[in-house]
Amino acid sequence: MPSHKRAKLHSVYIPKLDVEHRRISQAMDELNRVVAAGGEAHEVLQDLIDDLGAHLNGEERMMRTSAYPAYAWHKHQHDAARKRLKQFTERVETGESGAVCEMVDFFRSWLRDHTGLHDRMMAAYLRNFERAHAPAAS
Ligand SMILES: [Fe+2]
Ligand SMILES: [Fe+2]
Repeated sequence: MPSHKRAKLHSVYIPKLDVEHRRISQAMDELNRVVAAGGEAHEVLQDLIDDLGAHLNGEERMMRTSAYPAYAWHKHQHDAARKRLKQFTERVETGESGAVCEMVDFFRSWLRDHTGLHDRMMAAYLRNFERAHAPAAS
């Protein structure tokens, strides 16, 4: 298992989001493993689609709740990823050889870049927001 690839994932220092990023990364590893072993991609691919979809929606909820100023910019990145995921999924479902590898490569880079910039900026804002709105200690 190429664990060095996982080590490149950036922490955003919000445990819930870090766990979700790791889970998405692991779903990609699993998808790669299943396909490399000649297995059926459908179920594992669905796990990845579900995990990624729930994660992006969750981040967008957090950004809206906290009135994150760069929401539109961040959501635009998510929408682009959703579009690519849909395109890749269609190619995988039609049985196109190599589509899974290409997809995993794409989303591994995407996740690394996106967590390293967009999610880190968002998380810094969210942590400040939480601190500012935390009940005062008595
Ligand atoms: Fe994220
Ligand atoms: Fe994000």
